[in-house]
Amino acid sequence: MRSFSEHWDYVFSLKEGMAELSTMVDLVTTNKTDFFREPMHFEYLFEKTLPELAANNKKKVRLWSAGCSTGEEPYTLAMVLSEFAERHRGFFFSILATDLSGHALETAKSGVYEMERAGPVPWEFKKKYLLKSKDPKRGLVRIAPELRYLVEFRRLNLMDMDYGLRESVDIIFCRNVIIYFDRDTQEKLVNRFWRSLAPGGYLFIGHSESLSSLDVPMSMAAPTICKKF
Ligand SMILES: C[S@@+](CC[C@H](N)C(=O)[O-])C[C@H]1O[C@@H](n2cnc3c(N)ncnc32)[C@H](O)[C@@H]1O
Repeated sequence: MRSFSEHWDYVFSLKEGMAELSTMVDLVTTNKTDFFREPMHFEYLFEKTLPELAANNKKKVRLWSAGCSTGEEPYTLAMVLSEFAERHRGFFFSILATDLSGHALETAKSGVYEMERAGPVPWEFKKKYLLKSKDPKRGLVRIAPELRYLVEFRRLNLMDMDYGLRESVDIIFCRNVIIYFDRDTQEKLVNRFWRSLAPGGYLFIGHSESLSSLDVPMSMAAPTICKKF
């Protein structure tokens, strides 16, 4: 197209626009992610957050990976939570994973990745939760079905005023997402997260993100880990 406004008119035209909007969103979103990215968060979750929630007799712990990209983050959560549940009878959990990009969500739902992407997954988890493709030349792994079924993927725009969550959640992972928003948008978003969290719930943000300049009712439990008191 010859100009920005021509593209704008096209995207917001009712008929053709919907498909173009979706393509545009896929092209402008940055989907970089990894299994066990920023591993300190998963250690903290396993050692501190989950024992605390389990000790408070939470019947079911609800997690939300907000801005889940191609699924590595929620599948990492599913591995860590499954491991915890194996050691703590009567511990149940659910994982909701959302993103704006339909393309990223398609990869996430398929659960199929290039073998080298699985590099950061610890060996014992690889054996348990990753299936190698029958043809080694293809160099692919697939998340085992019992782990895939633990994650519900859904398209959700974090700019929406209402996220349509039926129940409050106990843990939100929203990492390496708010860094792309301006200060005002970050503040509104984190306040919406606060409302979605159950009392005593946790918000994990990316290592290069900070809430310190925002007016939000959260206390820091550890660097980049906030708690709703
Ligand atoms: C850099 S990735 C981070 C993935 C993962 N959380 C991690 O830390 O590895 C950022 C993701 O945020 C998503 N995103 C950006 N804006 C969004 C919005 N308004 N609503 C929902 N997701 C959004 C992008 O599509 C992208 O998949």
